Amino acid sequence: MNKAGFPEYGEATEDVLAAVKDLAAGDIDWRSGRAFSLVYHPGDEELERLLHEVALIYLHENALNPFKYPSLVQMENDVVDMAAALFHTVPRAGTMSSGGTESIFLAVHTAREWAAQRKGVTNPNVVTASTAHPAFAKACHYLCVEHRRAPVGADLRADPAEMARLVDANTVLVVGSAPCYPFGVIDPIPELASLAMEREALCHVDACLGGWLLPWWERLGEPVPPWDFRVDGVTSLSADVHKYGYTFKGASVILYRDPEMVRYQWFLYDDWPGGLYGSITTAGTRPAAPIAGAWATIKFLGADGYLRKAEQVRSATRGFLDAVAAIPELSVTGKPDMSVFEFGAAEGSDLDIGGVGDVMDDRGWNLDRQPGGLHVMVSPYHVNVVDQFGTDLADAVASHRASQGKAAGYGGIAVDKPSHREALCIFAL
Ligand SMILES: Cc1ncc(COP(=O)(O)O)c(C=O)c1O
Repeated sequence: MNKAGFPEYGEATEDVLAAVKDLAAGDIDWRSGRAFSLVYHPGDEELERLLHEVALIYLHENALNPFKYPSLVQMENDVVDMAAALFHTVPRAGTMSSGGTESIFLAVHTAREWAAQRKGVTNPNVVTASTAHPAFAKACHYLCVEHRRAPVGADLRADPAEMARLVDANTVLVVGSAPCYPFGVIDPIPELASLAMEREALCHVDACLGGWLLPWWERLGEPVPPWDFRVDGVTSLSADVHKYGYTFKGASVILYRDPEMVRYQWFLYDDWPGGLYGSITTAGTRPAAPIAGAWATIKFLGADGYLRKAEQVRSATRGFLDAVAAIPELSVTGKPDMSVFEFGAAEGSDLDIGGVGDVMDDRGWNLDRQPGGLHVMVSPYHVNVVDQFGTDLADAVASHRASQGKAAGYGGIAVDKPSHREALCIFAL
């Protein structure tokens, strides 16, 4: 990787722009529909044009100071209220954040503060299933909260009995996923919420992935286990508008059953010469464009638009699952509830699934590697590439070579060995 020295002189606009385009040309080509999970491709040029305009209007604005930006306060409140209606809690019961990880941080922080102030807990822990997103491990690490992880059941869902064994008087939060990232299955939220209520802990549903799709999945008549605030005992929920909400990056919501809980998120400080500093999320200066983008996307799509997108996701998901099922050497892991799944070598097959992934890479597909196989996250645009996926996958299974050894990787990590502990952060190379 080139190490850039500080430029002595400024460059002409067109040169800078050409250099940016040149750099971007080497990035993943998500518009072709061959990428998964990094971009939720809605396949909607009008929405894209709208978002470009909205982003431009708010490019330089700062959501840090609500008094200077009443428009952003209005839009953030609207997004929170629209999400509250969708997930069945009351208006004003949350905030926006920059993404799933920040929403999860805020949920853990709120639970820690709530338990400290209301129950005197000084040594808090959070209980999750082993399939919970690493954002919980990260939040616990940063916030000095113990993270307890329970094994999942044979169906890959959180096992309430195993989780109950880890809950004690210092447990501030019990977590379920709707669905979990690796296998796309929804945890038994009612049982986890009951467990939390019995032990006087809070219960968070990580619907970062599913929050903006499951309501439409349900309306399409698909079986959706209970997962939102309609479940007694669910006290908070995170849902990313920048995933199946189809806005650009930097937009999530963190919601509570009780709007009073939002005050545990606040950070107020006046012990410095700059006057009272108040902040409701982890960032200080907050980019405005994602707030406006989320607002505009929800207004543009409305329930009918989201339903149409969900139909496309469902159709593409069925197509991808059929393509996998048509190949005897392959099988899907578990029984995914939505549009996210892993597939790997079928039982009894000695197929080198990493080698299959390599051939798919060569053909321009970007399937994330997991320890158990390849990961698929379906977006509306994928409905256009189902047939090609099936053809390429069948060819890849028939013609693959031995795997080049690319091991499981997620986020900013480049891995060439199966041991995650030896992984090198790409930015540090
Ligand atoms: C279930 C789940 N939770 C949390 C996150 C974290 O979201 P973000 O990457 O926006 O921080 C993800 C990301 O894919 C996820 O799938």
